[in-house]
Amino acid sequence: KPKVLISQMIPEEVVRLAEGVCEIDLHPESHPLPKEELIARLKNKEGLVCLLTDLIDDEVLSGAAGLKVVANVAVGYNNIDVAAATRRGIVVTNTPGVLTETTADFAWALLMAVARRITEADRYVRAGKFTSWQFLTLLGEDVYGKTLGVLGFGRIGRAMARRAGGFGMRVLYHNPKRVDPAVERELQATWVEKATLVKESDFLTVHTPLLPDTHHCIGAPELKLMKRSAILINAARGPMVHEAALVQALQEGWIAGAGLDVFEEEPRVHPGLLTLSNVVLAPHIASASRETRTKMAAMAVENCLAVVQGKRPPNPVNPETLTS
Ligand code: GLV
Repeated sequence: KPKVLISQMIPEEVVRLAEGVCEIDLHPESHPLPKEELIARLKNKEGLVCLLTDLIDDEVLSGAAGLKVVANVAVGYNNIDVAAATRRGIVVTNTPGVLTETTADFAWALLMAVARRITEADRYVRAGKFTSWQFLTLLGEDVYGKTLGVLGFGRIGRAMARRAGGFGMRVLYHNPKRVDPAVERELQATWVEKATLVKESDFLTVHTPLLPDTHHCIGAPELKLMKRSAILINAARGPMVHEAALVQALQEGWIAGAGLDVFEEEPRVHPGLLTLSNVVLAPHIASASRETRTKMAAMAVENCLAVVQGKRPPNPVNPETLTS
């Protein structure tokens, strides 16, 4: 039986699925292995199922002579040095599709929470401040009929546009490539230049993958162009937003608020964010529904098993490593 390392705890039913086919070495914890231990445990493995907090760099891969596949349990794979894997002929896979709606639901929840001050309202009630009903307390911003700007119009960005339809919103998007006109029509979405998107959005939501090109794609220049009433949402990857610039923008009123599920240096959160009332913060949980996390784990295991059994995996991100 091929040997596979599962780097952190995933749903038990999925582990059992893998056990039928492979000899599993499971690290049954919810935190990454120290690097030396990861390297040591990978020495005799053909497959690795890992999470986004596992840093799979050139050094880790160089110690794993028999490794054939790194199956990330995430759609993003910026935690893996894909070029180094490709050089070694190691297949890298991700989990696209299964988390699209769950992630968009959560990004939408952040949008609603910031606009309508849900977390502030919750803190207000818990603090015993609801002593009399007041006409002018905790006033938020309307969502219905506003302009949603989507930066990155892939699966999740489009799912956001679809939700916006139910809120009577105008949808603008920016993507390096314009999408099929039929998709634009279906979603009532209009392609605009990035500067226009940033300027015209009441809600700007980021859904690009983290790449050298998208690093800090929302920084001081963009934040200064945004409406003072605008709200920024990031449930993609933290480093797309220049966190220090965002703190300044929120403190100085360049924009009105932010909803963040991701941070530049997770699990560290910029201390400035923690003191601001106009931000809603979450610990990278946009895909965290029971159903979706189970589907993601099963998909990664399926990818891993395919490669160790000499089959084509369903979701390669470096298909050039597949010969047939
Ligand atoms: C989660 O962040 C993912 O990329 O799936």
